[in-house]
Amino acid sequence: QRSPLEQAKHVAAFTAGEKLVKPGCRLGVGSGSTVKYLVDFLEGAFKANHLPGLICVPTSFMTKRWLLNAGLPVSDLDATPELDICIDGADEVDANFTLIKGGGGCLVQEKIVQSASKSFYVIADSSKKSRALGENYSSIPIEVLPFGVQPLLQTLPEKFGGDFRLRMAMKRVGPVITDNNCYIIDWEFPKDREYDWTTIHKDLSLIPGVVDTGLFFNCVNGCGENISKIAIAGQM
Ligand code: A5P
Repeated sequence: QRSPLEQAKHVAAFTAGEKLVKPGCRLGVGSGSTVKYLVDFLEGAFKANHLPGLICVPTSFMTKRWLLNAGLPVSDLDATPELDICIDGADEVDANFTLIKGGGGCLVQEKIVQSASKSFYVIADSSKKSRALGENYSSIPIEVLPFGVQPLLQTLPEKFGGDFRLRMAMKRVGPVITDNNCYIIDWEFPKDREYDWTTIHKDLSLIPGVVDTGLFFNCVNGCGENISKIAIAGQM
């Protein structure tokens, strides 16, 4: 028996799978617990012979393991540099469909796979939906090179306000290491102002040592009411 939240994730993932993934699809597969349900859908459909020619390109170590364990055909961007669609979860989705991603630490590979795909679809339960970023998820993940982490932690608060924290591994024996051998800084941004997220993303990205931010854009087109089933990002 699934909880209502898990059931919503399941519905989002299975709806997306049924509507969007066709035979021969070159599919970018995102990361996170909602995407795990997508992998379950793909496994069932592939084993039932409904998705011949499917190729899956994962966005993280964990997703790759799930796909392989499910017996699905796995590729990478070297062998499959152009993808038809990418389906991924999100940590928060605002009214403009700007996303916060990277709660699971996979933002860089997720963004690269997104940008290699002709279209990008987000699957999320309705708890992820907000009017403005920060209502449901308080921080923006930023992937950084370990070499420059200390100067960044020191200077970023002056430039942007709020708190910047190095994400620590569960038992706090050291920092979280991403699939790219980088660190994550979580920026808990002040909530008393409005942000132009594109500018914030550009400003952060220009700082030496910053690899990418967990702000995702250009992802949307419709289905706002229906985000509990499937939030659909626009054709890119
Ligand atoms: C991974 O880095 C994130 O971008 C995930 O897509 C995000 O955290 C969503 O995960 P859940 O589906 O587990 O909420």
